[in-house]
Amino acid sequence: MSRRLLVTGGAGFIGSNFVHHWCQHYPNDRVVVLDALTYAGNRANLAGLEERENFRFVQGDICDRSLVDRLLQTENIDTITHFAAESHVDRSILGPGAFVQTNVVGTYTLLEAFRQHWQANSQPANYRFLHVSTDEVYGSLGADDPAFSETTPYAPNSPYSASKAGSDHLVRAYYHTYELPTIITNCSNNYGPYQFPEKLIPLMCINTLMGKPLPVYGDGKNVRDWLYVGDHCSALDVVINRGAPGETYNIGGNNEVENINLVQMLCELMDELAPELPVHPAQNLITFVKDRPGHDRRYAINATKIKTQLGWTPSVTVAEGLRLTVKWYLTHHDWWQPLLSEEYQAYYQKNYVFSAS
Ligand code: NAD
Ligand code: DAU
Repeated sequence: MSRRLLVTGGAGFIGSNFVHHWCQHYPNDRVVVLDALTYAGNRANLAGLEERENFRFVQGDICDRSLVDRLLQTENIDTITHFAAESHVDRSILGPGAFVQTNVVGTYTLLEAFRQHWQANSQPANYRFLHVSTDEVYGSLGADDPAFSETTPYAPNSPYSASKAGSDHLVRAYYHTYELPTIITNCSNNYGPYQFPEKLIPLMCINTLMGKPLPVYGDGKNVRDWLYVGDHCSALDVVINRGAPGETYNIGGNNEVENINLVQMLCELMDELAPELPVHPAQNLITFVKDRPGHDRRYAINATKIKTQLGWTPSVTVAEGLRLTVKWYLTHHDWWQPLLSEEYQAYYQKNYVFSAS
């Protein structure tokens, strides 16, 4: 059965990878991307798709109720895959307002519009609202704590994770109150092609190429559970097709790595794969800087539920995924160079000036 998808945030990192995945696997489905094109959104991420007959890009804000209503109705949407968000913890510390607006009010706007649309169409059983969320809502783990499961209590610590937690609660409530067929996924750190340069992995690749310091927060021993973005997309695919409404699924890579080790792995890959680096070996650029305020120590995902109930497991190891990613950044200067804009430089100065040790 073919679907008609509204993909919010489809010009961002994960959203665009998802759209490529979906168009490749389900070429007969209608895909409508709604994206405000904030600093993190980039139409170049959708190159090769815009010419397709059953693809449409709409620039707009998820908080714009009349626009969302119009799209749901005229495109006869049955599935919302909701990626649009302010997504960077560091930016949420510098300015939380946009996070509350997009992540909480935006999600509420989509839920209300979708509820009305679903009810107006006599509540079809195939409708889905997939809310793409994060492991950060669960807070911070100690070294020996068990990994986050779907029943771990929420304990968000940054304005970003608090706003995502708020949106998760709304999504959950719309299922319990109205029986709207919503599903939530909580995923660990993604990496791969099209990730905006200010996130850890692209930042390290690009700074190495430019001979700039590689800023590692605090003691570098914070742990993240890294998942290759293609694996995240395949997980979302099985959740859309086989997940049960009202459920939450945790998605993770079984790849816990301390930040400093990850940065060292990246430096080794850059030494091997990049010709004529300005500073060699690249690890000479590693610079410990002041820690991120409220920096969560460790994230780890227990992905047993999605494995046992839906049969999904990640397929890419961190060593393979980092190699693919480094190669991608090395061969896509034309993609990332224009993103190092004045706005990017201004953000960079604000974020790292206060934290320089
Ligand atoms: P991103 O910042 O790269 O992309 C976000 C996209 O949303 C951008 O294209 C942006 O233009 C768009 N957007 C922002 N505000 C909007 C608005 N008001 N209306 C319409 N579009 C708007 O983010 P990402 O890393 O691709 O993350 C996508 C989703 O996945 C987010 O909800 C995030 O919380 C979640 N997530 C991300 C990760 C990760 O490691 N990146 C991990 C788990 C979950
Ligand atoms: O866990 C999922 C989350 O992963 C998503 O919900 C977020 O949208 C996504 O941005 C990501 O959040 P993080 O804060 O973990 O990602 P970031 O790339 O900013 O940082 C990864 C780790 O690296 C974190 O421990 C902070 C550290 N770091 C980051 C930057 C940018 C540094 O040490 N130096 C840096 O310059």
